[in-house]
Amino acid sequence: MGGGIAQVVAASGRRVSLHDEVAGAVERALGTMRRSLEKLAEKGGAEPDEVLARVSEVDGLVPADLMIEAVVEDAEVKQGLFRRADETLPPEAILASNTSSIPITSLAAVTARPERVVGMHFFNPVPVLKLVEVVRAVQTSDETAAAIVALAEQLGKVPAEARDFPGFVSNRILMPFVNEAAYALMEGVAEPDAIDTIAKLGFAHPMGPLALADLIGLDTCVAIMEVLHEGFGDPKYAPCPLLRQYVAAGRLGRKSGRGFYEYA
Ligand code: 3HC
Repeated sequence: MGGGIAQVVAASGRRVSLHDEVAGAVERALGTMRRSLEKLAEKGGAEPDEVLARVSEVDGLVPADLMIEAVVEDAEVKQGLFRRADETLPPEAILASNTSSIPITSLAAVTARPERVVGMHFFNPVPVLKLVEVVRAVQTSDETAAAIVALAEQLGKVPAEARDFPGFVSNRILMPFVNEAAYALMEGVAEPDAIDTIAKLGFAHPMGPLALADLIGLDTCVAIMEVLHEGFGDPKYAPCPLLRQYVAAGRLGRKSGRGFYEYA
């Protein structure tokens, strides 16, 4: 998602510095960005080279007006990153997280600028989906939320504001749906194709919940269910054992070549 976010920010005319601790990740993201920009250019979008010229790979955190963090869904990893960002970025910079469910309040709390920490939650595939869920931590100032709402609009997105409760609004609704589809498969109620066809043709969803889980990443789905489960203390949010089993087997979805389906 980091690459998708970098793409839409660069396409809006801004300069973007991209960093990933995993070797080769930025290079792969740049390749994905180019393919996406080429598709969009066919429909009148900006020249891919022109957009990519505004994106540079950097070795670690660098000073900037805004950070948008999109690392693994692990609270400790994110908190460590927010601590470092707080030391590196100028005090007036906004620190935003694309987290799917980690409490923004807990990220704000590790910084010396909690009022400038906010959730800026994009949706996959970022260049196509219009929504940005703007999540206010307990500490987020009105000014910070307004700046992110305005930025989302400048990126051609539609912002919707939510408060910092487990799963915010998006994943509180979406993830139990995905989890229930995994239970239906595990219990032998239907095959994956049938489950997804029912959602696609019965509810007019663009893709079924199992194909969507593969797009999001099954590890991310489990991590979000764990946040809901722990945050609400309600057993109805327990991650489906089949999801956990696939993750343990390395079947993470599209990114690993196999999840509920296989990918070339
Ligand atoms: N960049 C640019 N263009 C893209 C693209 C990309 N990454 N991906 C797809 N497109 C374009 C295609 O070129 C195509 O354009 P065309 O209509 O001009 O030919 C158009 O989008 C539709 O793509 P496809 O024909 O390949 O296939 P679909 O019609 O099925 O669309 C989809 C693909 C956009 C992924 C659609 O299936 C979809 O919207 N699925 C649901 C995705 C969703 O629910 N995402 C949210 C996940 S939750 C999340 O991210 C939050 C996190 O916290 C979990």
